[in-house]
Amino acid sequence: MNKPKHIAIIMDGNGRWAQKRNLKRVKGHEMGAEVVRSITEFCAASEEINRLTLYAFSTENWKRPRLEVEFLMKLLDKYLKKELPTYLKNNIKFEPIGDLRAFSPNLQKTIEHVKEATKHCDGLVQSLALNYGAKNEIVRAFNALKDKKNITEEMLSNALDCKEDVDILIRTGGDKRLSNFLLWQAAYAELFFIDTLWPDFSIKELEKIISKFKKIERRFGGLK
Ligand code: IPE
Ligand code: IPE
Ligand code: MG
Repeated sequence: MNKPKHIAIIMDGNGRWAQKRNLKRVKGHEMGAEVVRSITEFCAASEEINRLTLYAFSTENWKRPRLEVEFLMKLLDKYLKKELPTYLKNNIKFEPIGDLRAFSPNLQKTIEHVKEATKHCDGLVQSLALNYGAKNEIVRAFNALKDKKNITEEMLSNALDCKEDVDILIRTGGDKRLSNFLLWQAAYAELFFIDTLWPDFSIKELEKIISKFKKIERRFGGLK
């Protein structure tokens, strides 16, 4: 049976969730943050899952209205500060991916603090994708390797922010696209596109996806 070692999620649909309730889009982001906590705790409690990568802010999301971007930055800062005890209690290591240099010095400090404070944790790795774009990640990896000759797949993989292949890739919110998320690491991921909006996503739904995943015949190009 397949093991769901690395789960990656495109957490989409926050804005629509709020708009459906006549609320401001940012309320959806607030509710979305609650779901991040419960899904992370579920994954931390699972013996099989060792990495959870969550798409929180893309390199393209800067195009949004300034107020929404500012709200997301504040929410991230608040979330990390508030959740540090949750990381420690559940033995979760926080490992951000993406180009963090674009964030304010204060937010970078918070990110670095939580990363440092949890680096000894050896349960689940929760990786938040922040100012992340797969194309940006691959270009940065190429630049880091520019003086090397005969670059191999392994060398490129090790130069990426996220070095682990994805087993299950989920996108909530009804769209069937990757939006520049983990293009390299998802080469053989099993893809699950679901209509549920992220603030409505539940542990029950994740359990259903995992049990479907376990029954899939993964061939990786070979024959069974
Ligand atoms: C995903 O929800 C969260 C981020 C991109 C930060 P959206 O904000 O994209 O919500 P929809 O897709 O507009 O409903
Ligand atoms: C993808 O959602 C990015 C995150 C969930 C952080 P978007 O809402 O930004 O993606 P598009 O614009 O619909 O492709
Ligand atoms: Mg969206």
